[in-house]
Amino acid sequence: MNLSDFPRYPLTFGPSPVHPLKRLSGHLGGAAIWAKREDCNSGLAFGGNKTRKLEYLVPEALAQGATHLVTIGGVQSNHTRQVAAVAAHLGLKARLVQESWVDWPDSVNDRVGNILLSRIMGAQVELVDADFGIGFKESWENALEDIRTAGGTPYAIPAGASDHRLGGLGFANWADEVRQQESELGIFFDTIVVCSVTGSTHAGMIAGFAGQDRPRRVIGIDASAKLEQTRAQVEQIARSTAALIGLGRELRDDEITVLEGWAGEYYGIPVRSTLDAIRLTGSLEGVILDPVYEGKSMAGLIDLVRSGDIPRTSNVLYAHLGGQLALNAYSALFKS
Ligand SMILES: Cc1ncc(COP(=O)(O)O)c(C=O)c1O
Repeated sequence: MNLSDFPRYPLTFGPSPVHPLKRLSGHLGGAAIWAKREDCNSGLAFGGNKTRKLEYLVPEALAQGATHLVTIGGVQSNHTRQVAAVAAHLGLKARLVQESWVDWPDSVNDRVGNILLSRIMGAQVELVDADFGIGFKESWENALEDIRTAGGTPYAIPAGASDHRLGGLGFANWADEVRQQESELGIFFDTIVVCSVTGSTHAGMIAGFAGQDRPRRVIGIDASAKLEQTRAQVEQIARSTAALIGLGRELRDDEITVLEGWAGEYYGIPVRSTLDAIRLTGSLEGVILDPVYEGKSMAGLIDLVRSGDIPRTSNVLYAHLGGQLALNAYSALFKS
């Protein structure tokens, strides 16, 4: 099968915008840095990377006659907010298991930003005390069972829509979209930089780009602070997605790059380089990044350009995956 054989339910505006970050590039003395903006890819509750992934899961949910979309994430999960928006859009119910993955003391953490929007959109939000993890969760199984017992048909979406047969397709499609935009713009991005946590964003890109003629680096920056787990998950999803879309060859190990160094000690807790990257990108470009994901991947990009690991002659595409709503729970970090 090819990617185009899989049904896709449109939830985005169309191709996400691509534009240069000229002042950031100038500040770093090159490379030429551009952004592709998944943070404004949809009219559904501000969109983001999960909205693209869900375009390939929704046809299956509808075909199965789902009454509920059921998913799981941290308290300030961007993913659960996007599932809530898609459920509202489709006239389905959303059941969200929100776990205390991040030990973050802000007094309004469970009231503002993503979780506030999910509540506004009518989702059933369940707060659960449990640690960060992307594997099997009892709380999630219980939610599914509850819905079945009440006569509903749940459609289960794992954390980040990643550990799912179709989870990599959204960003395999992103790779096709980049190639199309490159031909329109007359540019080739030799390096892609993307934040990686549950893995299917980066993995989908790897699978999608692997089918193109011209090789490029697709650099994942770990923001989970659990590098081995992230790398294993990216590899597994990249390989299964590549097989699913008929790549016709095994991925090479050198096509799967997840770098550590910018996550700090904990998922969800920003470090100095995160905050510096957020302020720099905000003040030079008017582009807003979040402290959990994009601030960390941008910190990685900045260091890789500064160190020359990404050459000054490169054209770099930074995948902005969204996430700004969580900033509302991190206001104390920006008081001065
Ligand atoms: C804003 C943002 N950036 C990056 C990521 C990482 O994407 P993935 O979980 O597919 O690795 C996520 C979700 O986890 C996210 O919400």
